[in-house]
Amino acid sequence: MAAGPQDNQTLAGRKIILGISGGIAAYKAADLARQLRKRGAELRVVMTRNAAQFVSPLTFATLTQAPVCVSLWKQPDAWSMEHISNARWGDLLLVAPATANVIAKFAHGIADDALTTLYLAWRGPVVIAPAMNTAMFEHPAYQANEAVLRQRGHAIVGPESGELACGEEGAGRLASLDAILAAVETHMSPDRPLEGLRVLITAGPTREFLDPIRFLSNPSSGKMGFALAEQASRMGAEVTLIAGPVTLPTPSGVERVDVVSAQAMHDAVMERCGQADILVFAAAVSDFAPERAAESKIKKREWARSLQLRRTPDVARAFGQVKRPDQVSVGFAADTEDVVQSARMKLREKRFDFVLANPVRGEEQVFGSEHNRGWLVGPSGRPRALERMTKSEMARHVLQHAVEVLRRKR
Ligand SMILES: Cc1cc2nc3c(=O)[nH]c(=O)nc-3n(C[C@H](O)[C@H](O)[C@H](O)COP(=O)(O)O)c2cc1C
Repeated sequence: MAAGPQDNQTLAGRKIILGISGGIAAYKAADLARQLRKRGAELRVVMTRNAAQFVSPLTFATLTQAPVCVSLWKQPDAWSMEHISNARWGDLLLVAPATANVIAKFAHGIADDALTTLYLAWRGPVVIAPAMNTAMFEHPAYQANEAVLRQRGHAIVGPESGELACGEEGAGRLASLDAILAAVETHMSPDRPLEGLRVLITAGPTREFLDPIRFLSNPSSGKMGFALAEQASRMGAEVTLIAGPVTLPTPSGVERVDVVSAQAMHDAVMERCGQADILVFAAAVSDFAPERAAESKIKKREWARSLQLRRTPDVARAFGQVKRPDQVSVGFAADTEDVVQSARMKLREKRFDFVLANPVRGEEQVFGSEHNRGWLVGPSGRPRALERMTKSEMARHVLQHAVEVLRRKR
């Protein structure tokens, strides 16, 4: 897979429309256009009039060796309308940089120039790389518009945090070219972006037996991990699912390894983790186990004496210690309070690339539910909120993000 500078014909023959809007980062679109061409993509560029204030259309016409569309009102060469013919021509629409203005227009279906009209006529995958000043980015109007585009299934890459062109420091900088290219490659084949990759997923609870008929456990249903396994398989991966005791059916095409205790889950993961490209730790592994499991049923009167606990092996941490730089690992952090804070701690301690932080309290019940919500917490930048959605949808978001991180690493 993916995108080293040498073996980079990853977009050979793919048709990409590059939309450019009027932000200071428009100059970076020139390098992006070059990189897309170097990877073999065919490019057509559509700019807003304001983008043309920042960079000349001639720059892009030269880089792509094709005319650049800036106006709806140019006389067409043939009797075709350019915004419609472009919409039918491309495999993917990439808008980079995307201004707050263009994102608002996309969200609300306003079509008053070449780019926004093309967007409305577009039926394929869309990747958007926003860039703007921090205050604009944090404005609730912008946040609401971005959320609409996410819900529509568009990939939003960045923005990143750092020094901005206006001299301020904060969130709003255009994502790196590597991140944008990784998102393009992933969304180019939106159905099977995990083709050729091996994904290992842990799911469900574990049981720590006190005696032959009693155990310590938790209410994890395994639904999130099973949804991840099903989606990963649909997205083209070879999937191994290491499942604690749950009664869910094995998703088709998935290799399932059943385990009971935390120790058994640890051993199953450590045996297989070397072959995996992406590892998702969605199991709720018991943190404690009885010091010793009694061989026969503990009598009621012996009860108090019998409950000495010990720590179980920390499966994700153990993997973190042998993790290679070319592997991506993802954690789930369910907590009753300070979920984002606790996700950040897990991220560092277990060397995850990102963590899905879940609130589990009151109405936010996650265990056993068909739905989930939370935040994607990475090593830098603001946590990305994932609104309440089905566990299958959540699984796709998590896997999509994981493969983008993987592409950036390789
Ligand atoms: C120097 C300058 C830099 C700007 N940079 C940005 C930017 O980075 N992001 C943004 O959303 N708007 C930025 N703007 C504001 C947009 O240009 C403005 O909202 C414009 O209407 C966007 O037009 P468009 O979305 O049709 O391209 C900037 C304006 C100026 C004058």
